[in-house]
Amino acid sequence: MSFDLTADLNQRREQNLLRKPRIVETPQGPHMQVDGEHYLTFCSNDYLGLANHPKLIESLQTAAKQFGVGSGAAHLVNGHTQLHHELETALAAFTGRDKALLFSTGYMANLGVIDALLSKQDAVFQDKWNHASLLDGGLLSGARFSVIPIKT
Ligand SMILES: Cc1ncc(COP(=O)(O)O)c(C=O)c1O
Repeated sequence: MSFDLTADLNQRREQNLLRKPRIVETPQGPHMQVDGEHYLTFCSNDYLGLANHPKLIESLQTAAKQFGVGSGAAHLVNGHTQLHHELETALAAFTGRDKALLFSTGYMANLGVIDALLSKQDAVFQDKWNHASLLDGGLLSGARFSVIPIKT
């Protein structure tokens, strides 16, 4: 079986909805070079500005030397490293909670947390412009799902 996506792609192109990955040529920061052009960046989620912190880079290098890269399997299956455990423990202490749980992406955090908090008996109301991870999390939870249209 084969699919011809040409018509769909053309429609998206005409609607100016075709997405094209950009090539980033510099570290993250307020000034970046992307696809050969210099930009002032307003769309970063490096809110704490730690992406290029020398101590974090050094720690990442040290950890990669010790544990390699990649998890090898889901941490519920294969476990996670002592370093992950120490970070969860430190984050729990920092936030005054019994436990903390690390997720590898914001998307997975939203999916995991929403699914854990909601069940079929619940209702979730979301802003139409919420991040896809919040919308997907609400949908996957099985809760009654409503999107609030925002008039612009
Ligand atoms: C509000 C919000 N939630 C979730 C995410 C997803 O995070 P990640 O890209 O780490 O999956 C983003 C990403 O920009 C976000 O802005």
